[in-house]
Amino acid sequence: MESISTLIIGGTAAYRLDLAPWRPVGAPFILRTPYGDSPPITLLQPEDAHPPVAFCSRHGHGALKRSAAFLNHRAIIWGAKMLGAESIFSWNGVGAIDERLQVGDLVVPVDLIDFTRTRVTTFGHPDLRPASGPAFHPDARSAILASLSNPNPVSNPIYVCTEGPRLETEAEIALYHQAGAHIVGMTLSPEAFLAQEAGIRYASLGYVTNYATGRALGRPPRREFGPVVARTCLPILLRAAATLVSAMPLP
Ligand code: HPA
Repeated sequence: MESISTLIIGGTAAYRLDLAPWRPVGAPFILRTPYGDSPPITLLQPEDAHPPVAFCSRHGHGALKRSAAFLNHRAIIWGAKMLGAESIFSWNGVGAIDERLQVGDLVVPVDLIDFTRTRVTTFGHPDLRPASGPAFHPDARSAILASLSNPNPVSNPIYVCTEGPRLETEAEIALYHQAGAHIVGMTLSPEAFLAQEAGIRYASLGYVTNYATGRALGRPPRREFGPVVARTCLPILLRAAATLVSAMPLP
């Protein structure tokens, strides 16, 4: 198989997404990695002019089958490495901690606070150096930002990753707010760190699906976990993938 430069990892609502509009190429396939099986991967080629991009749904197919606390992050990222991916773009639902953010806003985290407790955050592979430096690759992040039409009021959001599967308490969210976090989710650690360790550029697009516990602050407690999340995020990340591939010779 020809080498694939980009993997897009779909989060919220990816499990129910009909991929037909993005022109799947061939049948989905699973990669057997030393860390277990990858999720099914589909190649998409929405534009003839651009090479295919790999896509997988993090949480399963048809329904949310595995929540973030139970994902095999190492199999997904090692799978990307087996494909030859130089970049990974992902999307994920986030809870808004910062009061300027509303349900439906799009955010591109600049940094990550890891409050997970039991996850394996390294491949433990002798040839790979542990992650260091920015949690999100600046070029990959810029490519997502360039693909957004409406910048939101929080331009450099900090994402706090919690262990789950339970939702945070109000006191925990108050602590994360004091610590400087703008958004909360359960996915990006260790995903971002493993990609960094594997030498793959990684950035993520957050879709504000809800207000974090205690942070509705008098607003109607809206929630949006429906198909609009995936239908909004996938085209943005496909544009980001095309931007990054054409802007930069691969290392
Ligand atoms: N907390 C944790 N993870 C999340 C949330 C939240 O409020 N919303 C979406 N993912």
